[in-house]
Amino acid sequence: MELLTDAQALTRWSRARRASGGGIGFVPTMGALHAGHIALIHAARQQCAHVVASIFVNPTQFGPNEDFSRYPRTLEADQAMLTAAGCDALYLPEVREIYPEGFQTRIQLPEISAGLCGAVRPGHFDGVALVVTILLNRVQPDVAFFGLKDYQQFLLIERLVTDLAMPLRVVGVPTVRESDGLAMSSRNRYLNPEERQRAGALYRALLAARDLRRAGEGSPELLEGVAREVLHAAGIERVEYVAVRAARTLLKVATVTDDEDPVMLLAVRLGSARLIDNMVLSREDGA
Ligand code: PAF
Repeated sequence: MELLTDAQALTRWSRARRASGGGIGFVPTMGALHAGHIALIHAARQQCAHVVASIFVNPTQFGPNEDFSRYPRTLEADQAMLTAAGCDALYLPEVREIYPEGFQTRIQLPEISAGLCGAVRPGHFDGVALVVTILLNRVQPDVAFFGLKDYQQFLLIERLVTDLAMPLRVVGVPTVRESDGLAMSSRNRYLNPEERQRAGALYRALLAARDLRRAGEGSPELLEGVAREVLHAAGIERVEYVAVRAARTLLKVATVTDDEDPVMLLAVRLGSARLIDNMVLSREDGA
């Protein structure tokens, strides 16, 4: 795997790959990689001739009291995982390269950022939109891959790419789960063994809501209520949100109907970790 430590090297790499034919697939990450990230690399490998990942812990998407400084940095292990997964190149920019002196641009998607994680983490999605735009401009991929665990982020990036007429396709890759259903996340490392055991309740909460939906329940409040009960029974009290929304727009729905699949999204605090997960509550398939 080629290491690209500055923008010039990245541009040379991209130009040469483009000239040699075949599409470029891009997997942006903040490192601390796990099997969920590797699923993104595999998806890119399947769809594109050339695959480049980036690792950049983006300061603008962390709030002042969030975990930027302690966010896990595991570069050696990350490189080994990317190499084993068949990634061709890794872009590793410094903060000064992404945000050079004098930088002042801001990007906001006010509607999609307004609720859920956007309400709890003010400014978070502005930082995501900004860094993703810069990275996409730098890499100029044909396809970019993002995990559906970050469901709101995924919809935001789809919207951003459409609104700014960026010439690429955005692909969402299904969440990879541990054996008890916990969604893989770099932040799972913050959990102690007892918290880790309780964290399986997030998935069980989503399944309980899905089962109720499959039994015909259409009330968002009742679907949310059953999920909250599962979290409560596991001793998870710091629930930031449990919400049923329209899957394409994240708008609130008065009643769930068969016309549009709802998605349940949840966020909790467990120990020093903040965990999120989601599930589309379709009536038929095995989401
Ligand atoms: O999902 C992430 O890891 C980050 O939010 C992203 C998309 C790499 C932007 O920093």
